[in-house]
Amino acid sequence: MASPLNTDHFWMPFTANRQFKSKPRMLVSAQGMYYTSDDGRQILDGTAGLWCSNAGHCHPKIVQAIQQQAASMDFAPVFQMGHPKAFESASALVAIAPEGLNRVFFCNDGSEGVDTALKIALAYHRIRGDALRTRLIGRERGYHGVGFGGIAVGGIAGNRKHFGPTLAGVDHLRHPLDIGRNAFSRGLPEHGAELADEFEQRILALHDPATIAALIVEPLQGSTGVIVPPKGYLQKLRMICDKYGILLIFDEVITGFGRLGSAFAADYFGVVPDMIICAKGLTNASVPMGAVIVRQAIHDAFMSAAPENAIEFFHGYTYSAHPLAAAAMLATMEVYREEQLFARAAELAPYFEDAAHSLRGLPYVKDIRNLGLVCGIELESQPGKPGVRAFDVFLKAFWDKGVLIRTTGDIIALSPPLIIDKAQIDQLFTSLAEILQS
Ligand SMILES: Cc1ncc(COP(=O)(O)O)c(C=O)c1O
Repeated sequence: MASPLNTDHFWMPFTANRQFKSKPRMLVSAQGMYYTSDDGRQILDGTAGLWCSNAGHCHPKIVQAIQQQAASMDFAPVFQMGHPKAFESASALVAIAPEGLNRVFFCNDGSEGVDTALKIALAYHRIRGDALRTRLIGRERGYHGVGFGGIAVGGIAGNRKHFGPTLAGVDHLRHPLDIGRNAFSRGLPEHGAELADEFEQRILALHDPATIAALIVEPLQGSTGVIVPPKGYLQKLRMICDKYGILLIFDEVITGFGRLGSAFAADYFGVVPDMIICAKGLTNASVPMGAVIVRQAIHDAFMSAAPENAIEFFHGYTYSAHPLAAAAMLATMEVYREEQLFARAAELAPYFEDAAHSLRGLPYVKDIRNLGLVCGIELESQPGKPGVRAFDVFLKAFWDKGVLIRTTGDIIALSPPLIIDKAQIDQLFTSLAEILQS
């Protein structure tokens, strides 16, 4: 008989370790829309893992690409060397990126992508002789990963308060969630575009716009509970950035690769930033990989500022464009294209929206917000116990219904793989309805 699993040594990330280890929730295999748990149950994946397995799990094409690559070249350096798939991956990404964003810096995840983009922004101004531009602006409730750059521009108290002052000179916009005026909005909320004006009126006035290097936002804030931007809000941010020479960075770690029914949220909103950070769905999460897609003019400024034969940008990771990740990425892009998964997400979005809003009126449901194949269901908190109610729903969904959901505070977030079908959407929301009713 197999000895029981020792759970002592793995210090689990973003997890209530003691709670988990008292009754572990173990996943042992995955296929398509389902995980299998260690007790042999099929678990419907309502969260694409962690917003990342957009094409479903263990897609044969991606699996094969990784296996072949592992057997032919496990690693190659990309410092002063190259391998073809690194360049092919960059081209494949540019092929689906908004026009003008055509240079790609590879890293290993979203957090590194954020740090990379912030460093590019700071260095870009510096090499152009605009050295006063050192401030970075983020947003309340923004999640930009866990590097020091990311937590500085991020706006989640829990991710910041234990770690000292992080970066100097950072400020934050208010987040646009306004349940008072926008509760139960379907798609983009009507109210709140004026919050973008605050960027100009308050933040820029306070700091002098000529000191600001970049504004970084998630087009749709995912991790802190699905905050959908109000109509016209992102367009305004773009206009203000243009007016003052500030770079606009979209963190599309969640919204990239079809989540909103288009390759990027930039396409969905018709707002082209100066850099896009992506990760997760980039390889269908099969091998870690992140990337920053950069406007050519930014890249070219680095090329022309450095002497010949000199390194233009002092940044990089041992595993930038790792061969396994590059192979997985190329296969993933093929799968997205062949199976038309972004279009599929767009087609399913109205059905998903109706299913999500069918929970309106159930006990404790305070707000429902959605866009594309993502929705947030905000519950009333138990007095004095924030997060307990939603976590209870999470546990019941896993143990009693065989459904994987994600919670943040008292908000349930759903973001299934884009291969989900209507019956599975029904299963997801019916399970939640039954739990809330009980
Ligand atoms: C918007 C956003 N940026 C950055 C990250 C960090 O990505 P990673 O966990 O791959 O470092 C995440 C992760 O969820 C994210 O949602």
